[in-house]
Amino acid sequence: FAYTPANQAWAEGQITKYPEGRQASAVIPLLWRAQEQEGWLSKPALEYVADLLGMAYIRVLEVASFYFMFQMQPVGSVAHIQICGTTSCMICGAEDLIAVCKDKIAGKPHELSADGKFSWEEVECLGACTNAPMAQIGKDYFEDLTAEGFAAMLDEMAAGKVQTPGPQNGRYASEPL
Ligand code: FES
Repeated sequence: FAYTPANQAWAEGQITKYPEGRQASAVIPLLWRAQEQEGWLSKPALEYVADLLGMAYIRVLEVASFYFMFQMQPVGSVAHIQICGTTSCMICGAEDLIAVCKDKIAGKPHELSADGKFSWEEVECLGACTNAPMAQIGKDYFEDLTAEGFAAMLDEMAAGKVQTPGPQNGRYASEPL
């Protein structure tokens, strides 16, 4: 792994934002940029960031494996889907969404679908509890999901149709049901 020249220049700029001896503070943005470049964080990518920051590999691995915004395995070429499984979403149907993922993508989290287009995982609360159940797809939130609507959304995404994020029933948190 190596950053593209543009990303390398950007990373070096990030590192200069921090005082001497505190370069490790740039670890999260540098990891994020590596993930944006490659789609996920391979061991060589973690080692590359560790070397840039003068950090031990294990310390970079600790950070990357703590946050579920970082993917430690290859993800689907179309989307990696994160289903919130915490209380509000669980009560409102997260298990039905997970069943759709198991049916349409792969039986286990972090496995790629047969066509390589999708992967999924269950994550903890993403802070959109009032519009439960919800999923994060890429950088977007899709809320007030139903199993049927979610399944149709996956089919459309597989066919290349861009989806509109936000509450799928048009409701916003400040509005009554
Ligand atoms: Fe699902 Fe908070 S419980 S977003």
